[in-house]
Amino acid sequence: MNPLSPGVVQPPAGAPSVRRTPWLDHWLEVVQDLSILRATHPMMDAVIDEVDGRMIRVGDRWLADFASCNYLGFDLDREIIEAVPAALDAWGTHPSWSRLLGSPVLYEQIEERLTELLGCEDSLVLPTITHIHMSVIPLLAASGTIFLDARAHKTIYDGCQVAKSRGAAIRRFNFEDPDHLDALLSAERDPTRLVCMDGVNSMTGNPPDLPAFAAVARRHGALLYVDDAHGFGVIGERRADETSPYGMRGNSIVRHFGDTYDNTVLVGGFSKSYSSLLAFIACPTEIKDMLKVAAPPYLYSGPSPVASLATVLAGFDVNERRGDALRAELHRLSRRVLEGLRELGVATPNRSGLPIIEIPVRDHTRIDFVGRFLFENGVYVTLAAYPLVPKDEVGFRVQLTAVNTDEEVSALLAAIGELAARGELRPA
Ligand SMILES: Cc1ncc(COP(=O)(O)O)c(C=O)c1O
Repeated sequence: MNPLSPGVVQPPAGAPSVRRTPWLDHWLEVVQDLSILRATHPMMDAVIDEVDGRMIRVGDRWLADFASCNYLGFDLDREIIEAVPAALDAWGTHPSWSRLLGSPVLYEQIEERLTELLGCEDSLVLPTITHIHMSVIPLLAASGTIFLDARAHKTIYDGCQVAKSRGAAIRRFNFEDPDHLDALLSAERDPTRLVCMDGVNSMTGNPPDLPAFAAVARRHGALLYVDDAHGFGVIGERRADETSPYGMRGNSIVRHFGDTYDNTVLVGGFSKSYSSLLAFIACPTEIKDMLKVAAPPYLYSGPSPVASLATVLAGFDVNERRGDALRAELHRLSRRVLEGLRELGVATPNRSGLPIIEIPVRDHTRIDFVGRFLFENGVYVTLAAYPLVPKDEVGFRVQLTAVNTDEEVSALLAAIGELAARGELRPA
């Protein structure tokens, strides 16, 4: 039976169908704002007909794309694209073994190079971060207590809900507030403690004060679990010869802050900066070995396509040779946008200079108009509508990549300037 149609009454032949699906109507009502936008807005659920560099064509309109997470531009890099055919010749398109059954040697090569890049003890790769949160958080939390960042990414939340269904308790600590975490941990008697939070935040573009959170977690014997989906590939170790304040090598938040992996498990993905379907968990070998027999995605899930494994490996090569130059360009473009916003007097929560720049609208009901205005002015962004974000944070998110052009940034700033002049955006 179709699980989506338990409430549908089959009418007699020839009669019009009667839909009796109150649960479906309930959900459509809960997500009404988003549902209307999805159905009517050109910048939602769009069909992209063609790309040319960072320009995209939707129907007969060409737009500058500021909604891509391909921060380093690896999706368009000839050297990376050309690495794919040889891997397909060697391995076919898709091995289709679960990892426990068998993994092409490409996985060993990726984990070895990743472990070296991150400077951690060991690492394990699985198809997506979502797979990792859903399976690894419940294993690490067991029947203990999870301390969850109140603004953690939805996929972390969902992983914690799975853990809760298996007996874990959840306590929330305030966003960007290590003192609140400290107070909650001090009051807790459960000896099994897991702290779950984001690295670079996918909306504000700011990293947390990782050393402060790590110190609190260590002091209370808690394991810190950090999702740096957006930081990996962008931020990295700080050095005297660094090409930008993002640091070097893109080796993620722990190295960026000069912290250690003691009591810290780092999760990240290749689907943003490395433009490939793969994700990782950096952890001690002891945890990796446990996950290899206990984490369902390792045991049962279909693997990442071979093309993605090839683009990750080629991405490591490009990152070593050209990554720091690409990050310098990414920083320059991001700074141009942030300085432009400052000159226009437009508010953004971005304090970090990283390439994720959210711009809240003055009135959340105007998001439809604001999005259409940007679209009509040749600018494509991510709409952050309710209930994707709380009503007071509704706006749009701009993401820069190293292959956006200055011309595209000028078009973006011109459109934002016009919106600001019409009073649609929040003043700084
Ligand atoms: C912070 C964060 N975590 C996890 C995810 C999901 O990653 P994946 O597509 O690898 O499951 C995203 C995607 O937007 C994200 O921003």
